[in-house]
Amino acid sequence: MSLLPTMHRAPPIFRQAPPTMHRAAARLPPARPGPWPRRALCGEAPALVRASGPGVARRLRGQAGVRPGFLSGPEEAALGQEVEPQLRRRRYQFDHWDGAIHGFRETEIAQWSEESREILQRVRDEAFPPGMSQLSLVHVLDLDKSGYIKPHIDSVKFCGCTIAGLSLLSSSVMRLVSEQNPEDWMDLLLPRRSLYILRGPARYEFTHEILKDEESFFDGQKIPRERRISVICRNLPILPAPT
Ligand code: OGA
Ligand code: MN
Repeated sequence: MSLLPTMHRAPPIFRQAPPTMHRAAARLPPARPGPWPRRALCGEAPALVRASGPGVARRLRGQAGVRPGFLSGPEEAALGQEVEPQLRRRRYQFDHWDGAIHGFRETEIAQWSEESREILQRVRDEAFPPGMSQLSLVHVLDLDKSGYIKPHIDSVKFCGCTIAGLSLLSSSVMRLVSEQNPEDWMDLLLPRRSLYILRGPARYEFTHEILKDEESFFDGQKIPRERRISVICRNLPILPAPT
């Protein structure tokens, strides 16, 4: 049985806004191009990551990463064709009461074609160690061109330590902001057809968000936001042992 039968109408069980969000907006990178420090780089694809300082870069090394070109053009098209009919049945939601996302529709898919199964297996092999229990439903989130994801942390009750997402149709900027020290941030450039992986502190100690088109800048460069579909695999939380 699905753990997540009614997520479209029910509370946002994938996401929870942090209890208090002290957003030191002034200390985040400016939304528009401007003179801001090109400081720390990190991870395997340094050009796709910018951090507020070397401490954050060190803390998130290996915990937040982007693999550009993870999908080929035909693979992106195949996944897109497969999710489109299921998305089309739903309406975009603007100002959804949960407040975590604006301008989106979403679904979860359990049954995939052989071709997509192979792609998703590649995602799982890249993101999760062998034997880790994973959510069998794959989350598909369709953001309208004007849509965006506000800062949140995925539910610790329903999702485990790792989030792996494919980006279809549009590049975007994902911003991580430390809950403890909002001046600590990292921006990830998520090119179209890339895979990103968040784990450990990047998943638990930092909020993540997808910037709206007007604010979609990476390292001072505009990253135009088009309609974007993400295909997200997660693992299950480790449940407390039965007593
Ligand atoms: C989410 C989320 C990111 C993405 O649905 O909780 O953060 O890549 N999605 O769509
Ligand atoms: Mn999330």
